[in-house]
Amino acid sequence: MTDRTATGRRALIVGASRGLGLGLAETFAEQGWQVVATQRSSSPELERLTGTGVRVETADIDDDASVAALQQRLNGQTFDLVFVVAGVATESDKPLHAVSRAVNAQVYLTNAVSPILFAEAFADRIAPGGTLAFMSSVLGSVALNEDGGWENYRASKAALNTNARSFAVRHAERDYGILLLHPGWVRTDMGGAEADLDVATSVNGMVAVIEAFAGRRDVAYLDYRGETLAW
Ligand SMILES: NC(=O)c1ccc[n+]([C@@H]2O[C@H](COP(=O)([O-])OP(=O)(O)OC[C@H]3O[C@@H](n4cnc5c(N)ncnc54)[C@H](OP(=O)(O)O)[C@@H]3O)[C@@H](O)[C@H]2O)c1
Repeated sequence: MTDRTATGRRALIVGASRGLGLGLAETFAEQGWQVVATQRSSSPELERLTGTGVRVETADIDDDASVAALQQRLNGQTFDLVFVVAGVATESDKPLHAVSRAVNAQVYLTNAVSPILFAEAFADRIAPGGTLAFMSSVLGSVALNEDGGWENYRASKAALNTNARSFAVRHAERDYGILLLHPGWVRTDMGGAEADLDVATSVNGMVAVIEAFAGRRDVAYLDYRGETLAW
């Protein structure tokens, strides 16, 4: 049975067509949040959530015009949570030198630059005491990189972490906190069938971490259990 409590809180989940973003949109809505969730192209799984507290929107974070159009369509709306979930791992099974410059650059742009540009576009839509969250990864930790692998992806998430910290300094007067979240290793298209966690376990953990973080103004790098990760 769904526990639908009217919290009055509002979330913008960016990259919710499948995987973790889809799970986050569904879970926040189940917990009574009003959710705006974005897809790039039609996602039947996301669209079936329409009417359950989820409004489906369209945006490609790599496309400035698309982000600007979303900004216009959501004009006047504020959010307790803006969560940029979208990410790619193109050819991340290969070492950096075996991947073309164009693909390495695209992974960097999508994972490390576009989320920050999106945040800039929506920074003034985050409610006081709210949260700006980015989907990072433990692979983005420079300190914890003792196993290598996932080279272009790993570097892009490290860059996302550092770009988010620069964003935090640039917005030092903000009245919201900034979260870099590691969802665990999760069975999605990206995580693969061998991953440790199902989507529900990861998403329920992240939702609890976000709830606990509300009202903070600092920058934190946490996993889905709320454990602090080394930068
Ligand atoms: N799964 C894991 O184990 C794991 C671990 C650590 C971190 N993460 C991170 O968690 C996030 C979600 O991953 P996932 O496992 O759910 O992967 P996924 O199943 O591959 O889903 C990726 C999502 O990102 C969207 N996306 C990609 N590029 C986009 C763009 N330019 N604009 C808008 N949306 C875009 C995709 O949309 P389309 O359907 O249109 O492609 C899809 O909704 C990613 O940032 C990933 O790096 C995942």
